[in-house]
Amino acid sequence: MDVFEAVRTRRSIRRYEERPVEEEKLQRVLEAGRLSPSAANRQPWHFIVVREASAKERLRSSYGEEWFAGAPVIIVVCADPSLAWRRRDGEEVWKIDAAIALQTMVLCAWDEGLGTCWICAFDEKAAKEALGIPNGIRVVAMTPLGYPAERKEPVTQRKRLNEIVHYERW
Ligand SMILES: Cc1cc2nc3c(=O)[nH]c(=O)nc-3n(C[C@H](O)[C@H](O)[C@H](O)COP(=O)(O)O)c2cc1C
Repeated sequence: MDVFEAVRTRRSIRRYEERPVEEEKLQRVLEAGRLSPSAANRQPWHFIVVREASAKERLRSSYGEEWFAGAPVIIVVCADPSLAWRRRDGEEVWKIDAAIALQTMVLCAWDEGLGTCWICAFDEKAAKEALGIPNGIRVVAMTPLGYPAERKEPVTQRKRLNEIVHYERW
């Protein structure tokens, strides 16, 4: 699958088969996150792989949705803001770095036949308690990872290019 095809066909998957994710595929997805670009190459991210039922159940309390814990793997993307680069005006970019890593993993997973779903609607304090994440480390997003148990059509519900693209100036 070429990159554009992965972008075009990827959808958020909220139902997963029980079938485990092969270790080789998981490592390839994590490697895609590791190889992602970050501002000044600071790589402020950490990826927590959650597979044990008890850990998934604890993590579910931070998000609440039943389907979320049904995936064989959950990847939690964290960032260490103290490592991250800052813009000239002081704005921190660790969320951008972490988001790039997760989206790269998402596309790589899709190419491996694996579904994902960006999750941000969680309670960060509860997620940190569930996984023993140290003070100072932020939880940016998480995703289930597994073989899709639902089929979805490629993306259609997006704004048209002429609504969002500006040439030369706004
Ligand atoms: C930053 C971000 C946060 C999201 N948070 C959630 C979430 O908490 N729960 C959820 O079910 N989906 C979440 N989504 C998935 C979006 O709802 C989904 O990507 C969007 O509706 C487009 O659908 P598609 O991914 O199937 O193309 C999130 C997506 C992004 C990019």
